This record gives sequence, C-alpha cells and structure tokens, in this order.
Amino acid sequence: THSSLKKILKDNIRSVKDFPKKGIVYKDITPLLNDRYLLELTSRMLAEPFRGHHIDYVAGLESRGFLFGTNLAQDLHAGFIPIRKPKKLPAETVSVEYKLEYGTDILEVHTDSINPGDNVLIHDDLVATGGSSMAATKLIEKLGGNIVGYSFVMEIEILNGRENLDQTIPFHSILSV
Ligand code: PRP
Ligand code: MG
Repeated sequence: THSSLKKILKDNIRSVKDFPKKGIVYKDITPLLNDRYLLELTSRMLAEPFRGHHIDYVAGLESRGFLFGTNLAQDLHAGFIPIRKPKKLPAETVSVEYKLEYGTDILEVHTDSINPGDNVLIHDDLVATGGSSMAATKLIEKLGGNIVGYSFVMEIEILNGRENLDQTIPFHSILSV
C-alpha cells in the first residue's frame, strides 16, 4: 500500500547526529539514491501528485534539490531549472537575498530560464524553516513565473516550514519527519 511504501522511504532516511555542527540532526537522503528501487520509488512518489498538471519547468534548489529534481522534471515532461548559490551560474542572473538564523544567504537563477507566465514547480529534498524555498518562490516570481506547487521528499515537522511558504500554492511532501 501507499503508506507502507512511505514507511520504506522513511526507514531509509539516515539521521546523522551533530552534522554539520553539534546539535543538528542531518537528514541524509543518500540511501534513497543508492538503492535502485528506492531511487525509482522516490522519484515516482514525487511526481504522482502533479501528473496531468500543466508544468513547464521544475526548479530545483542547489544542491540536494538537484538530485531528484531532474528525474522529477523528466517524469512530468517538463524542463529543469537550477536555482544556485551565488556566482555559480555563468550567464545573466537575478538574485534574492534571504535571512538565516545568523546572517543572510543568496540564491540565483538565469534570467532567460523561463518566460513570463510559465508554470513552475519548486522542488527540494527537504523543507526545514522554508527560508530557501521562499527565496526560490521570489526568484521565480521576479521572472514572471507562475508557481504551481512545492515538492519535497520530506518536511521537518517541528519547524513547520510549510507555514512560511505561499499558502495559496499547493504543497506536497512525501514524508513528514
Ligand atoms: C538544506 C536542504 C534544503 C534547506 C532547507 O540545504 O537541502 O535546501 O537546507 O532549509 P530551510 O527550509 O530552512 O531553508 P543546505 O543549505 O544544507 O545545502 P545543500 O542542499 O547544498 O546540502
Ligand atoms: Mg539544500
């Protein structure tokens, strides 16, 4: 069943204590990539709620949002857009600065990656506070894109990041951890 498949995925997310810093529990999706069946299962479960929707592009967040992002784009017959950390994209970009617990961070996208009115699905491996996905939302909106959904492998339940995203946009996360 659907819920037993979810349980298999959940059981294969590795929690690593005190990485990258003391007090942080890192949620590691590499076991889902490593196993050929879990790679396919995770990719399919990401695509499932958006099948039949009109999606022009999947926008994936560097770096872990690249891992399933292109699979997801191909499965939905969409193109893929990398949203990257600063100074990585070679052509003309637009940038958004967003707040972290301490300091700020920047995300960028190529200016010519979409045309106004294109339908874009935002994807990342996980949503924690929602800060990076909200920054991605602003970037796509700067280019005139229409965000048709948020797609994650997992949400970190206690941080309730989905509350910090645009509430008018459909939200999908395979798992809640
Ligand atoms: C992690 C994760 C998400 C983001 C979620 O990325 O992959 O992109 O944090 O956090 P938020 O919802 O609080 O913004 P990280 O910055 O560790 O970089 P990486 O993907 O390159 O490993
Ligand atoms: Mg990330």
